[in-house]
Parts: sequence; C-alpha cells; structure tokens
Amino acid sequence: MKAFANKTAVVTGAASGIGLELAKVFAEQGMNVVLADIEQNKLSEAVEEVAKLGAEAFGVLTDVGSGESVKALCEKSVDRFGSVQVLCNNAGVYTGGQLWEQTEDDYEWLIKVNQWGIIHGLRHFVPQMISQGDECHIVNTASMAAMCTLPFAGIYHMTKHAALALSECLFHELAISAPQINVSCLCPELANTAIANASRNRPSELNEENITEMHNMSMTAIADATAGSLPPRVLADRVLEAIKDNIFYILPPEEDPWRATANARLEDLRLVRNPTLAPPAI
Ligand SMILES: NC(=O)c1ccc[n+]([C@@H]2O[C@H](COP(=O)([O-])OP(=O)(O)OC[C@H]3O[C@@H](n4cnc5c(N)ncnc54)[C@H](O)[C@@H]3O)[C@@H](O)[C@H]2O)c1
Repeated sequence: MKAFANKTAVVTGAASGIGLELAKVFAEQGMNVVLADIEQNKLSEAVEEVAKLGAEAFGVLTDVGSGESVKALCEKSVDRFGSVQVLCNNAGVYTGGQLWEQTEDDYEWLIKVNQWGIIHGLRHFVPQMISQGDECHIVNTASMAAMCTLPFAGIYHMTKHAALALSECLFHELAISAPQINVSCLCPELANTAIANASRNRPSELNEENITEMHNMSMTAIADATAGSLPPRVLADRVLEAIKDNIFYILPPEEDPWRATANARLEDLRLVRNPTLAPPAI
C-alpha cells in the first residue's frame, strides 16, 4: 500500500506503547484512526493525542478476548468511516513463571488476549475487507518471543508462536483467496512500554495468580529489560515501511541479539538437535 490519506486504520491495544505509536504514525499519514483498548481512561487520552495530529480519531472500548466486542469494533469502525484498510491486531499481555506452577487463569488470560485477540480480529475484519474489494493490510503483533523459546516466559512464548503461525497461514490463504489483502507480522525486540505492568488490565474472573519465586523473577526481568529499551515509535515506523513495501516479517535489524537467539532455534531444528538455551546477549 503506497497511499494512506483518507483511508482508515484500526489499532487494538492503542491506548499505550506500540499501539499508541502505530495510531500516531497512521494519523500523520492522513488516515482516519480507530483506537481500540480495554483501558477507558488511557484510551480517551490517546484519542485526544492522536486527534491533535489532525486525524479523525475515534476510540472504541474493546476487549479483544471477546468475539462480540471485536465484532462491535468492526461495525462501529465501518459505521463511522465507511471501510477499513489497515488493521493492527496489536493488544497483548505478559506474565511469567514456571509452566507447571502457573495457574489456569494465567494460561487463559494470555491465550485470550494474545491468540483469541488476533483470531477475533481476522474473523471479523477479513470478511469486511473482502467485501470492500480494495487494497488492505493486516498487521499482527507477535514478538521475537515467537521465534525462540526461553524459560520462565513459556505461556507468552506459546501464544506468540501461535500468533506468528496464524499470521503465516493467513498470509498464504489471502494470497490465494483475496490477494488484495496483505499481511505482516510484527516481531519486536524489547521496547519501552507498559507491558511489564500488563496485569493492570487483567480481568477479575481470570485473576488467580501463583506468586512464586520464578514468577517474581520473570516479572522483574521483563520490567528491567523493557525500561530504557527501544522507543516504541521505532517499531511503528518499521510497520509503516513494511506496509508500504509489503514485507511480511517485521524484525529487528540483523545485528540485534534477538536475531542470534532466533537463529539458534532455527539451527536446532535444521540439525535436529536438542533446544539450545541462547538468551539474547543484551
Ligand atoms: N514491549 C515489548 O518489549 C514487546 C516486545 C515484543 C512484543 N510486544 C507486543 O507488543 C504488543 C503491544 O504491547 P506493548 O509493549 O505496547 O504494551 P502496553 O502494555 O504498553 O500496551 C498494550 C495495550 O494493550 C491493551 N490491552 C490489554 N488487554 C487488552 C484486551 N483484552 N483488549 C484490548 N486491549 C487490551 C492495554 O490496555 C494496553 O493499552 C503486545 O502484543 C506485546 O506482546 C511487546
């Protein structure tokens, strides 16, 4: 997609971090922007911030873990702007610990937001985009965690591997059935966002946690690692370039330590050797 002005972008998880920067980048391109998030106060602030850039910005309180809620997001976006050309399934959450110590609620919460969020997005927006018949682009946010496996963040890795696999399958299916709709998968390295505090939006019905030593260690590690890391704007700029050039894999540069970690896993698979523990040397 080369021209953006007056087209419409929908971004989930748009009240904070990478999603907010995506909304701003699209606004700067002259797009109408629909910001979707579960956190009402931050969403209202984000809508104001994006509107200041001159865009038509519209906030929709959305739980991406609910099919009904994402269906309503799609309907409200189309009611307001007539059509949707860019969808960023970006909302995501994190928790860590040892797999056998984490609760069913931990699993359900991450699967609901990180996997079902993308599933609901594609189930409701792809038919809408097909009905429009114009050029569209879907960007799913996975992570470099989708390309490797590390201990004490297993549920997050699992959901992000699923996000990447789903995105690749969507890419193939659309290339065959609706080639005017393109797909990218954003796989960020660490970025300075509020992800370490994701539990602020954890639903009360999935709130059972097992606060173990490994859980605390994992949460401290993610907070320390993201603080002062990449400004999320860099990722939003990367996404815009990928949409312009129709690039599927949106990855950190080759010299980034996460690329070596991902390559170690690919090499494990190629050589059929046991998984190498190769955390990024940050
Ligand atoms: N920050 C990083 O280091 C990093 C690295 C790789 C991938 N990611 C991914 O980037 C995406 C954005 O995260 P971020 O780092 O900007 O974090 P963030 O916490 O700053 O932003 C995430 C947003 O998602 C929203 N959200 C949470 N649950 C939701 C739900 N059920 N429905 C709708 N919105 C919901 C939150 O309210 C928040 O505004 C996530 O998918 C995350 O997994 C982040």
